[in-house]
Amino acid sequence: MAPTDIELPSMSQSHEPVQRIAPDVKLGRNVRIFSFTNLYGCEIGDDVKIGTFVEIQKGAKIGSRCKISSHTFVCEGVTLEEEVFIGHHVVFTNDRYPRSTANGKLQTEADWVCIPTLVKRGASIGSGAVLLCGITIGENAMIGAGSVVTRDVPAGATVAGNPARIVRPRSQKADATNLIAAGQST
Ligand SMILES: CC(C)(COP(=O)(O)OP(=O)(O)OC[C@H]1O[C@@H](n2cnc3c(N)ncnc32)[C@H](O)[C@@H]1OP(=O)(O)O)[C@@H](O)C(=O)NCCC(=O)NCCS
Repeated sequence: MAPTDIELPSMSQSHEPVQRIAPDVKLGRNVRIFSFTNLYGCEIGDDVKIGTFVEIQKGAKIGSRCKISSHTFVCEGVTLEEEVFIGHHVVFTNDRYPRSTANGKLQTEADWVCIPTLVKRGASIGSGAVLLCGITIGENAMIGAGSVVTRDVPAGATVAGNPARIVRPRSQKADATNLIAAGQST
């Protein structure tokens, strides 16, 4: 059969949700999850949107009103606070020195320590960014597309490049948000 003759099952025909949401996932209210997603052992807050081909591993926490775009990988150890934007194909990591084996056998959970990553409220991660583990992305920070982020990012800063460096130290949005939070603004 020529490739063009292959009949692919269509979503409208099968009515099958092509997504895996394990029973141990804690889902908030009004969460929208698109097709071909794989979620297990994670916590998802209210009003979150999760794009197609996203995987979210056990132990990951996604705050309310976050938007996670397609093809992103959120691993164990990652916490997103509220209103975080994650672009397409963003990759988090949780092992700084990964190895396949320990003592000649495939590694198990006992052979490595999960290193956490925190993305604070209102931050945005551009498409294709890679975040090394053990870092904190500050409130309302902006990570440029394709960046490799190796260090903490200060609140409100814009960083870009490989390794990511500060392009703009603070945004007006971050300052306004902090003033409101501190009760210094009408
Ligand atoms: C990082 C970003 C926010 C910077 O925007 P900006 O503040 O308007 O900055 P500018 O475009 O003025 O660029 C400032 C400098 O940073 C560089 N730069 C900007 N974005 C960059 C990136 N992603 N990687 C590397 N360098 C970058 C520019 O080349 C420029 O360098 P120069 O001064 O030597 O010419 C933006 O470029 C970006 O990457 N946004 C993310 C887009 C995205 O992924 N969206 C996802 C949903 S579609």
